[in-house]
Formats: sequence, C-alpha cells, structure tokens
Amino acid sequence: MLVSPSLLSCDFARLGDECRDALKCGADWLHYDVMDGVFVPNITIGAPVLKCISKEAEAFYDVHLMITDPLKYVGDFADAGASMITFHVEAESDVKETIKAIKSRGVKAGITLKPATPPEAIYEYLPLVDMVLVMTVEPGFGGQSFMYDMLPKIRTITAYIDEINPACELEIDGGINAETGALCAAAGATILVAGSSVFGAPDREKAMDDIRRACL
Ligand code: DX5
Ligand code: ZN
Repeated sequence: MLVSPSLLSCDFARLGDECRDALKCGADWLHYDVMDGVFVPNITIGAPVLKCISKEAEAFYDVHLMITDPLKYVGDFADAGASMITFHVEAESDVKETIKAIKSRGVKAGITLKPATPPEAIYEYLPLVDMVLVMTVEPGFGGQSFMYDMLPKIRTITAYIDEINPACELEIDGGINAETGALCAAAGATILVAGSSVFGAPDREKAMDDIRRACL
C-alpha cells in the first residue's frame, strides 16, 4: 500500500520543510490539493507554489485538481513538476481532451469523482487513465469523517479496473486513518491519501506505518 500524505494539513508557512519531513518519515507520494473557490468552497495553492516546492524536495507529486477548468491549467502544473495530475469528471473541461493533454506532457493522468457521482460516470475513461481517485469526503476541506457508504462504490470501481485496465491504480482520499484505510485496502485500494491523520500525528512515521500495517 502506498501512502500519499495530503499537504493540505501541513504548516503552509513551512511548506518545503513539511515536504522534506513527510518524505523522511516514509511518504511514498505527496498529495497536492488545488482548490479554486468555485469548484469547491475553499481556495488553496496553485502551480507557482508547486514549482517552488518541487525544486526544494524531490518527490512524486500527486496533484489533485479541484478546479472548474482543469484543461486550462494542465500545462502549468506539468511545468511546475507534477508527476500525476488528477481532475474531476464533474469539472467543465472535456474529459478525453484533458486526459490527452496531461499525457502529452509526459505526466500520469488520474480521474476522480465526488461522493454523489455514481461509479458509471468514469467507466468509459478507465482505459485511458493511470489512476482513479475515489473521494470519501465532500472535496473542499481536510479533517472530515470518512464516508463508509462509499465502500460499495470502491468495490464497484475495483471490479471495473480488474475488467478493463488492471494496471490502473485506485487511490482513496478523505478521512483515511489505519482503521478506514484497512477497509479501503480490502475493497481494492492501492494508494491512500492521508492528511490530518499524518500531519496531525505526534509521530508521522508511525502514523504512516500504522496505515500500511493495517492494510496487510
Ligand atoms: C479534500 C482533499 C483531501 C484532504 C484529505 O478535499 O482532497 O486530500 O486534504 O484530508 P484528510 O485526510 O484530513 O481527510
Ligand atoms: Zn485530495
């Protein structure tokens, strides 16, 4: 199981140090949440900040775009050092064009869906993507509670992946800790995003190890 700590829960005043610390504590990827205040009711950080931190800390930057028009910004995030760009199927950009634009920049492409969006919404795009991200909270804020009623959706998407594109990764984001992470692993997850349960823990290395161990 890979763990991708969400930088949303770190100390933004010390972003470079926080990235290095998470990596030192064993983070597999770094999850970078981008919100535009329109697609979701919160505003975070964008490509200029990613450009600075990707120079400071070498990592796999797992960029989660919660923005209205992802296609418009793919180039900026690719240039800034994104390793994977994941965008919402509910956003306004043409989905296939956006996947094509991400891949043309040599970046891995992921697609994600909000809790209320049915799994069928991503079915036709599965052969084209490197990852599906299932949201287990309403996107917009860290520190929310895991929505247990998303587990059947995770199982359905696992079945789709097995059928259509077995190389596709399945990432889960929202309310992940050792207990909820284990449920996601059993449902087919291959990567877990964890924000508050890692950055809020007194021992971040232990927090990530506990999640991985619970998934075995
Ligand atoms: C929510 C973000 C998540 C969030 C996860 O919109 O996409 O990545 O930061 O934080 P926790 O793990 O605290 O739910
Ligand atoms: Zn996220």
